[in-house]
Amino acid sequence: MTLQLNDASLLKYQAYIDGHWVSADNGKTLTVTNPVDDSPLAEVASCGTEETRRMIEAANRVQPGWAATTAKQRATLLRDWYNLIIEHQEDLARILTAEQGKPLSEARGEILYGASYLEWFAEEAKRLYGDLIPAPASDKRLMVLKQPVGVVACITPWNFPCAMLARKIAPAIAAGCAVVCKPASATPLSALALVALAERAGAPAGLINIAAGNSKTIGAELTRNPLVRKLTFTGSTAVGKQLMAACTDTVKRTSMELGGNAPFIVFEDADLDAAVAGALAAKYRNAGQTCICANRLLVQAGIYDRFAEKFTRAVTQLNMGCGTKDGVDIGPLISSQAADDVYDLIEDATHKGAKVLTGGSRGTGSFIQPTVLSNATTDMRVFAEEIFGPVAPLFRFETEAEAIQLANDTEFGLAAYFYSRDLSRIWRVAEQLEYGIVGVNEGLVSNEMAPFGGIKYSGQGREGSRYGLDDYLELKYLCLGGIDA
Ligand code: SIN
Repeated sequence: MTLQLNDASLLKYQAYIDGHWVSADNGKTLTVTNPVDDSPLAEVASCGTEETRRMIEAANRVQPGWAATTAKQRATLLRDWYNLIIEHQEDLARILTAEQGKPLSEARGEILYGASYLEWFAEEAKRLYGDLIPAPASDKRLMVLKQPVGVVACITPWNFPCAMLARKIAPAIAAGCAVVCKPASATPLSALALVALAERAGAPAGLINIAAGNSKTIGAELTRNPLVRKLTFTGSTAVGKQLMAACTDTVKRTSMELGGNAPFIVFEDADLDAAVAGALAAKYRNAGQTCICANRLLVQAGIYDRFAEKFTRAVTQLNMGCGTKDGVDIGPLISSQAADDVYDLIEDATHKGAKVLTGGSRGTGSFIQPTVLSNATTDMRVFAEEIFGPVAPLFRFETEAEAIQLANDTEFGLAAYFYSRDLSRIWRVAEQLEYGIVGVNEGLVSNEMAPFGGIKYSGQGREGSRYGLDDYLELKYLCLGGIDA
């Protein structure tokens, strides 16, 4: 792979198992492609059941030792890793753009975003307090210890290959868990580079293991192996359900960050310019390929036309192109297949009566023009399905009750957004939206300090924030009797 990096040794093509960079047992590789045109970029070791088992066994070997380290030792590793990521931000961003396609400015942002989870959990590790419970008798003392859940399997997606890996590994390491990771086959290079920096930061052999390969084969071993005590996954609801089912036999804990279908509601009393800016950010970040992207823009009738006009004008200014070029806002989708799928949604909507206000065409390779559709209706696929592309359908509503009904009319419950300046409405609507995350007069809601996660078919568990450690901890109740009071 030809990529201008300051530190070319960050490019890793092998799996990292028990402190060694290794090829697949059978020498197999998978091809990483350039999303711009699906051309081959690199060959990466494609591992299977045996390599996965060795990762798990290595993690299991170091697990008791790591659980016994002090919080400060765990924090120091995370902090040193964080510092190395910051030092290598530019190289990591270049690797990310090459395999994922997002504009370099966004890739730099993702590296900082991912690193922020390491910094956050380095700090949280030191605040992993237990509890002392008032006892029912004077000769007893009741206590709660928080202990690491054990070996954690992390399966990460291609849309944020650095940030999602960091968001899973950081709390696991902070809590005292060893990890085995399976990065998305489309974007393993970013994940492998991140792990290379963990090795430099001094992660002991076996603490962090990673192997790319066939999702079904690796997933099967991760879910059935009893040594894995928790599985954390970010990806589609369909795959999440399969993983959850496969984890029942060994009664594993699971955290699932699954699909979304975010409503973005603009009420008549909204600050229109702020709503347009918020919608741009919530819809077109990462070319629309995030689980929390605004999927359905619900706009109140009285301001529908004005919002549509201002929003369309803003979308027309977005620059589409290769992520490596300066000034690009919208890169390619992850593959030409993904672009075909998104284009099918546009065609379905226009056949059913949607009007294209801007964009609407299928560019070459993996590009879809940033698109705004008006007159969207609930019988269109864009109402029910996650678009995962730069397409904004505008739906019209009349009343607040109708907006809430439309917003909640989905099996998903990850993120929702609304714009209003009426304080009573803000409380009413925020409390009735059936979502794990609600942006009120704000289109960018992700950060390491806040709990990220959904309800309904969008999953379970929370990542980031002070709650994020709980998913990696077991509670142990100690009842101490015979105290001479
Ligand atoms: C995701 O799409 O899964 C993550 C998006 C984010 O962290 O903002």
